[in-house]
Amino acid sequence: MHDSGEKIACLTAYDASFARLADAAGVEIVLVGDSLGMVVHGHGTTVGVTNEDIVYHTQAVATGLSRAFLMADMPFLSFATRDAAIHGAQQLMQKGGAKMVKLEGGAVQADIVEFLTARGVPVCGHLGLQPQMVHKLGGFKVQGREDALAEQMREDARVLEQAGADMLLIECVPSGLARSITQSAGVPVIGIGAGPDVDAQILVMHDILGVSRGRVPRFVKNFMLGRDDIEAAMKAYVDDVKSGAFPAAEHGFGE
Ligand code: KIV
Repeated sequence: MHDSGEKIACLTAYDASFARLADAAGVEIVLVGDSLGMVVHGHGTTVGVTNEDIVYHTQAVATGLSRAFLMADMPFLSFATRDAAIHGAQQLMQKGGAKMVKLEGGAVQADIVEFLTARGVPVCGHLGLQPQMVHKLGGFKVQGREDALAEQMREDARVLEQAGADMLLIECVPSGLARSITQSAGVPVIGIGAGPDVDAQILVMHDILGVSRGRVPRFVKNFMLGRDDIEAAMKAYVDDVKSGAFPAAEHGFGE
């Protein structure tokens, strides 16, 4: 799909029933995100999520999938050392059934990415807004607006890919920056709040179903509006990703 230019539809899921609906709706990549700390556990950040939490939800999601590719998040500080990272990835893949793990961070994670990928763990690097850094950043903010930080992110993408990353995900960045990272990357790039010119789109399931609490980020679209069942909302999301109707300009952070 990356080579042919077909847009890839991705969505988070945390349990078997919703995973089954996403799979049936045509979602191609299902992520068990550490966003579960917010939308399932009800916390204000993802920092409290543990590897055991992700394994538990990944096992559940795996039973609901018959076709979609299953990716699982490595939570806060669970990949801070090589030993922790390989143990965490082993649990996510062997117990959880994940086919790929995702970890936040740029060039600083190159050593861990190289270590994991060389041992058969497919890795998706997560750039741009890294929610696990929320207490360091002082909030959930758009990243890469300044030229120097944008250049740093392009370099982070290059370094991660060189270290063996099989996919990249970029969150909350100006659309032009996401476009330039995608054009230079040799691996698929998933965007969330990163504009239309990436290979794949992802959203948090609770957001597309309109059941998230609190302030809804600009990049979210509630696909339940005007529809009366969840499967139709998920299908509409997939259709809009495929056709390019989602994301629209209003969901992005400018050039
Ligand atoms: O945790 C998560 O669900 C994520 C997505 C928002 C990309 O990382």
